[in-house]
Amino acid sequence: MSNEQKEPLVVPAHIAIIMDGNGRWAKKRGLPRNAGHRQGAKTLENICDYCQKIGVRYVTIYAFSTENWKRPQEEINTIMDMLRNYLKEASKQTRRNVRLLFLGDRAPLASDIRQLMNQAEKDSAGNTGMTLCIAVNYGGRAEIVRAARSLARLAAQGDLAPDEIGEQLFSEHLYTRGIPSPDLLIRPSGELRVSNFLLWQLAYTEFVFMDVLWPDFSPLHLDQAIAQYAKRNRRFGGI
Ligand code: IPE
Ligand code: IPE
Ligand code: MG
Repeated sequence: MSNEQKEPLVVPAHIAIIMDGNGRWAKKRGLPRNAGHRQGAKTLENICDYCQKIGVRYVTIYAFSTENWKRPQEEINTIMDMLRNYLKEASKQTRRNVRLLFLGDRAPLASDIRQLMNQAEKDSAGNTGMTLCIAVNYGGRAEIVRAARSLARLAAQGDLAPDEIGEQLFSEHLYTRGIPSPDLLIRPSGELRVSNFLLWQLAYTEFVFMDVLWPDFSPLHLDQAIAQYAKRNRRFGGI
């Protein structure tokens, strides 16, 4: 045993997670990809509970990207059905004092899913515990284009002068308006890329890439990622 004092854990206020590796997890076991998604959903519940327990204020998870429509229809249907079930049980999150927010373009989603999303946001709006942002049909580039379009619309109407557009105003036109930028981004599965996630918001986020597949991701892995984060020196361009 060392005499070293244990440093208090620096818990990031906002953790973003790219839930990846469900398909590979299933393949390794000779199971259909959908089995990986089902296991991944259990991991999500578990990790959200743990984040809340250790005092994380915001968790943003990538559930479905604007590019994931390229997948086989059957897989898309399974993911959407899982989302539907999650939303039907969203009152569970409300009981836990979690505020739910959805990021992304809802227009192409089924109307019952859109309704359930609106309802879950409304029901949980007053919750003061953790905020859970779920990115569905989300793409970072699409989000930036959408913000530009909405500002252009205001300018064209004569309600906004181009010089009034600054970083603050721009960020208020993103899906994440009002949410602070992530402190830590975790991507499991061994891939070393951001895959169009939170392109604007990740400007000064610390990245931790891990070699575990999402369905196997446990609170221990989260602790490891936070321990790495705690050792980083965030300078934000300063010295
Ligand atoms: C992430 O796991 C889940 C979604 C993108 C919806 P994947 O399905 O991408 O799993 P891999 O990357 O194929 O293993
Ligand atoms: C990113 O994972 C999207 C989500 C986790 C929802 P992908 O599996 O779609 O990313 P790529 O294709 O490996 O870049
Ligand atoms: Mg993947």
